[in-house]
Amino acid sequence: MTDRDLIDLAVQASKNAYVPYSHFPVGAALECADGTVFTGCNVENAALGSTICAERTAVCKAVSEGHRDFIRIAVYGDGEGYCYPCGACRQFLAEFAPEIEVLSAKSGRYVSNKLSELMPYTFHF
Ligand code: THU
Repeated sequence: MTDRDLIDLAVQASKNAYVPYSHFPVGAALECADGTVFTGCNVENAALGSTICAERTAVCKAVSEGHRDFIRIAVYGDGEGYCYPCGACRQFLAEFAPEIEVLSAKSGRYVSNKLSELMPYTFHF
């Protein structure tokens, strides 16, 4: 699967976002080592802190289906800049895949980084 294919899945996933508060849909597509892809979208809540981001939705879907071996994730949101994962999502991804490749995308463009580059010194105990 090409980077663009994975981003296209994230774009599709963003169409299911539930975003009555921010009006900012985000989609994620998480690729496992065996080629399985789990998608996710952000799901907001009136108790705003209960909102879950697209990336964490995708990770929870994957882990709850028995998948933990992640190699690449595409994150799409059509803002002014690239849609990088937030700090909470970086920490959440680091739990399973500290070296995962992160494709941060906006309409028509993306950048690629290692998670370890986006978030060094993640918390562990
Ligand atoms: N959001 C994500 O889905 N992923 C991120 O990494 C950052 C933020 C969502 C949460 C909220 O629904 C909206 O974007 C605005 O913050």
